[in-house]
Amino acid sequence: MMYRIVAKKPLAHKETLFEVEAPEIAAKARPGQFLIVIPKEGGERVPLTICDYDARKGTVSFAFHEVGKSTKEMGTFEEGECLSNVTGPLGNPSEIKNFGRVLCVGGSIMIAPLLLQAKALKDAGNHVTTVLGCRSKEFLFMEDEAKARSDVVYVASDDGTVGEKGIAFLNELLRKERFDHCVVMGPVVMMKTVSEITKPFEIPTIVTLTPIMIDGMGMCGVCRVTVGGKMLFGCVDGPEFDGHQTNFDELIKRQRTMLPEERLSSILYGADGGCKCGRQ
Ligand SMILES: Cc1cc2nc3c(=O)[nH]c(=O)nc-3n(C[C@H](O)[C@H](O)[C@H](O)COP(=O)(O)OP(=O)(O)OC[C@H]3O[C@@H](n4cnc5c(N)ncnc54)[C@H](O)[C@@H]3O)c2cc1C
Ligand code: FES
Repeated sequence: MMYRIVAKKPLAHKETLFEVEAPEIAAKARPGQFLIVIPKEGGERVPLTICDYDARKGTVSFAFHEVGKSTKEMGTFEEGECLSNVTGPLGNPSEIKNFGRVLCVGGSIMIAPLLLQAKALKDAGNHVTTVLGCRSKEFLFMEDEAKARSDVVYVASDDGTVGEKGIAFLNELLRKERFDHCVVMGPVVMMKTVSEITKPFEIPTIVTLTPIMIDGMGMCGVCRVTVGGKMLFGCVDGPEFDGHQTNFDELIKRQRTMLPEERLSSILYGADGGCKCGRQ
């Protein structure tokens, strides 16, 4: 099977969207599910959330942020080139139904998959308010897509260079408007903050957890998360969980388990000139 990249779209600095030929995955994919991509033979398994699929064309899309060796390496692939392996769809699909008034909050690269869910929620009859969170103006992307898939769109940036400054404005919004359901996809710290904001308003809040994963199929146990005091597997029990019940601090700690090795691998890859010649 060849997983050919049919489109490569730069979203922001070091943030890219790939549309890849994978007809069997495209036929089954649903919002909220993820893929495991091996960019180059013998390479690492990279879990990435599905941000679009087209069963007719036989393609599936995902967006990635270059944070370490494997994602940097993926960024060097061009249209027409093939990824070594793409497995999926993995994990459980999002619950899509008419909740009423829905708040969708996306941060950083996870804005791309969030908008797939926003579209499905709007198609299901919900009134959708979307918040796009970014570090600063130059990292904002897909604003037009958000407007097309939502009834109302807000932008928030960490440094205030575009839209609201920080995510705290949500407190004010929730005091003024009623929401029946909230979906958050983004950095763990952001999902934790939004869950803390929605909790006193008693708005059910669903977060997409991204623990370190290996097989993505419930076999290795690496992706353990604690939700509601129970140990669950991110891959087969999630990746979506109740944000009000999630132990985010434990997740943050577990995500950093391999930090020294990841830093070294990234430095060595940089020293290689970032080539795709097969050296690890
Ligand atoms: C269900 C799920 C969905 C995800 N969706 C997206 C997405 O849509 N777009 C995106 O850019 N990123 C997504 N991620 C995170 C992405 O998998 C990591 O950024 C990537 O694996 C980093 O690999 P690296 O070699 O480039 O960086 P490394 O230097 O190896 O790691 C950098 C950091 O990424 C995390 N990470 C590393 N390896 C893994 C792994 N095997 N599984 C999970 N996290 C890891 C760790 O926190 C680590 O500190 C998702 C993760 C999960 C679990
Ligand atoms: S990634 Fe192995 S059990 Fe979830």
